[in-house]
Amino acid sequence: MSVAYFNGDFMPLESVRISPLDRGFLFGDSVYEVIPSYAGQLFLLTEHLERLQRSLDAIRLESPLSFDQWRGMLEELVRRNEGDVPIDLGLYLQVTRGVAPRDHAFPAGGPPTVFAMANPIVPLADTIRQAGVAAVTGPDTRWSRCDIKATTLLANVLARQEAREQDAVEAILLRDGQVTEGAASNVFALVDGTLVTPPLASSLLPGVTRALVLRLAAQCGLDVVERDLSESQLRAADEIWLTSSTKELLPVCRLDGHPVGAGVPGPAWQAVHAAYQQAKRDAHPSRAPVEGCA
Ligand code: PDD
Repeated sequence: MSVAYFNGDFMPLESVRISPLDRGFLFGDSVYEVIPSYAGQLFLLTEHLERLQRSLDAIRLESPLSFDQWRGMLEELVRRNEGDVPIDLGLYLQVTRGVAPRDHAFPAGGPPTVFAMANPIVPLADTIRQAGVAAVTGPDTRWSRCDIKATTLLANVLARQEAREQDAVEAILLRDGQVTEGAASNVFALVDGTLVTPPLASSLLPGVTRALVLRLAAQCGLDVVERDLSESQLRAADEIWLTSSTKELLPVCRLDGHPVGAGVPGPAWQAVHAAYQQAKRDAHPSRAPVEGCA
C-alpha cells in the first residue's frame, strides 16, 4: 500500500481528497519536484529543495515548509513506503496555491496545498544497457518559462505521447532549429568529441541530474561545454543522452528511426553512467563500492 502526505498528514494514497476548487486542478497553478531516494537515502536533496524554492519564488508562493520540515516529511515518507527492505523510490511533491473560488488572479491568503507520494524507481534494464533507447524530435510548443518546474505540462504530455506512438521513450524538443530539452529530461550530445548540452535559459529546466552529469563528465576527462546544440549537430552526434532524476542517464541509440553513432551505447556514456552509479553509492556508504569512471 502506497502512503502519501497531504497537508500535514500521512495517509493511504487512495484516501487523499483534493478539492475541485484547488488551483492546481483548475489552473495548473502549482509547482513540483521529483527526488530520488536510493536504499533509504534522499539523493541530491539540497539541490532539489533549492530548485523548489526557486520555482515557488517564480510563481510568488511562499514555501509552506522550512528546509528541515521538507527533509523530515520526505524522510518519513520514504520510511513509510519502504517496508523492511530499503528500495529505490522517486518522491513526487507538489505545492499548489490552494483552494479558492475560481478566479485567475491570486486569492487572498489561504493556505497552499501540499501533496507528496512515492513511486518505485525501476533499475536500468539490461536491454537498455546493451541497446539504448529510441527518441524522436518534435517542435517545442511550450511557454517561455520552462525553467520553472510547474505542473502545467500539457505540451510535454503531448510531446511524450507523440514519442510513444512512434515506439520511442522520449521526444527531444526543437525551438528555432536548436535543442531545448526532452519532454521530461535534459539532453546531452557528443559532437566531434565534445560533450554538449544547451546552456541554462528560460527555455529549459535546470536539471539536477544535468548539473551532476556535467561535473562527472569533466571528472571522467571528457571535454564538456554548455552551448547551443543545433538540430543538425544532434543528428550527426556520436552519442546522445537523456538525463533525469528517475531515469538517470539514458543512452539514445535511435533518433527518428536512424542509428545514433554506432547504434549502441557509446564509451562516453559507459564512463559517465558508471561514475553516476558510483556517486549514488558514495552517498550511501552501506552499499558495496564498485567501478568509478570506466
Ligand atoms: N522531470 N526537463 C524537464 C522538462 C523535466 O520534466 C525533467 C525532470 C528534467 C530533468 O530534471 P532532473 O534531472 O532535475 O530530474 C528536465 C521529472 C523527473 C518528472 O517530471 O517526472
